[in-house]
Amino acid sequence: MTLKFNQQRLEVAYSIFLVILIPAVIVAGTVWLTSQIKSDFDLELRRKANLANEVFGISATNIMNANSPSQAAILLQQLVDQARSQAPEIDQLSIVSSSGTGFRTLASSDTAKVGQTDTTIQTQLAWSKGQSIASLIASGEGNDREWLVATPLIGSGGQPSAISIMRVSLHSSDELIGTTLRNSFIGLSIMVIIIILLLLNHFRFVQYAELFRAQKDLNQMKDDFISIATHELKAPMSVIKGYLSMVLEEDDLSKTAREMTTIAQDQTNRLTRLVTDLLDVSRLEQGKTKYHLSPVNLAATIGPMINTYEAKAKSKGLALVYQPPAELASVMADPDRVSEIFTNLIDNAIKYSRTGTVTISHATAPGVLATTVKDTGIGLTPDEVSHLFARFYRAKNLDTRDIEGTGLGLWIIKQYIEKMGGTIAVESEKGVGSQFIVTLPVAPTLNASSAQSLT
Ligand SMILES: Nc1ncnc2c1ncn2[C@@H]1O[C@H](COP(=O)(O)OP(=O)(O)O)[C@@H](O)[C@H]1O
Ligand SMILES: [Mg+2]
Repeated sequence: MTLKFNQQRLEVAYSIFLVILIPAVIVAGTVWLTSQIKSDFDLELRRKANLANEVFGISATNIMNANSPSQAAILLQQLVDQARSQAPEIDQLSIVSSSGTGFRTLASSDTAKVGQTDTTIQTQLAWSKGQSIASLIASGEGNDREWLVATPLIGSGGQPSAISIMRVSLHSSDELIGTTLRNSFIGLSIMVIIIILLLLNHFRFVQYAELFRAQKDLNQMKDDFISIATHELKAPMSVIKGYLSMVLEEDDLSKTAREMTTIAQDQTNRLTRLVTDLLDVSRLEQGKTKYHLSPVNLAATIGPMINTYEAKAKSKGLALVYQPPAELASVMADPDRVSEIFTNLIDNAIKYSRTGTVTISHATAPGVLATTVKDTGIGLTPDEVSHLFARFYRAKNLDTRDIEGTGLGLWIIKQYIEKMGGTIAVESEKGVGSQFIVTLPVAPTLNASSAQSLT
């Protein structure tokens, strides 16, 4: 009980763990992927900004080398304006030169800066190191991110003569990534909802499994109950049966007492049959039926049955015919089960016949011996035949109304026959009669004494 409770709790915990873990893994994966894409994008833009500034620097250097400083300033301003008008991603473009104490802006897309001193740290770094410096800065009203690239322009003397400062906006790439991120989060949310729904479904399946287990337990309890109850009923019933037959053996029994005792005996026999059938069904369902296979001579098994049933057949005005061939192959089967099989079939044939003959005969086919129990009884409709081997099935019509039975016999013997490697078939016609054909495997002749066990 505790074990089951713990197991149940474990299953619930596992389901909750899945509900949290799976969406979390997907969200983390998406966030990591987009941040990776974003940093790749940034690097690529930085490379482009560098390149653009260097290309621009060549033109600017040429202008400065070929012109007087005042003329160069005008031409540089024209170059700056032209470059910016052609590349709107360039947020700002300036050219600054060293002027003794600091840096002074020679030309700039932001005209207010022209002539002003430039104090940006990147300018100083690029100047002192003699190489391009790029840094990511936030600027503008929207706090847009920008690459600020400061590239030294090398003069004719091989020394830096000025610095070109280009600020490239990351606005459109950020916007693109933002849109992608938003879209992927919408997709992700839908996915997470679907996963949660699926997992909730899984949770329901866990509950179904629990229900199924409970039902199986209940079924087992029912089987055990039937098995124990029927087993316990058998012993007192055989005592009652014994005493009843002892009473009937008394000579000085009054007529009424004899009649009453006979009725009691009939009813006890009926009860015994029911209990035996239920016990057989219970054993079969639990796979507890044992089969001890050995060569069985059918003539030796069926012969004595004929003697037992002769009186019953005669009392109904029926003839019981069995003439086995002198040489009859033995079948490989369990002798007790074989008895049950043919007792049931002969009993049925007599029970469900009003006139005529019940005939038992044999035929051989390769590897099997077929035994037919044929009657000229009430017969069955094709629909009745199709249900014949179902548990508790009894054909219900005027002919069978007064005939008692459990509807278990044919189901039980079918299980026995099939387990022993045989078959059972039926041919019947309403009002004409029926025949049941049972085949069982022939026992090997060489080591006929060998016995096997089936469970
Ligand atoms: N020889 C037969 N002739 C006609 N009907 C039969 C015959 N044998 C079986 N049946 C039908 O098959 C049903 C099931 O048979 P069985 O399983 O032996 O149960 P039971 O004999 O206890 O009713 C019977 O109730 C009867 O309707
Ligand atoms: Mg029967």
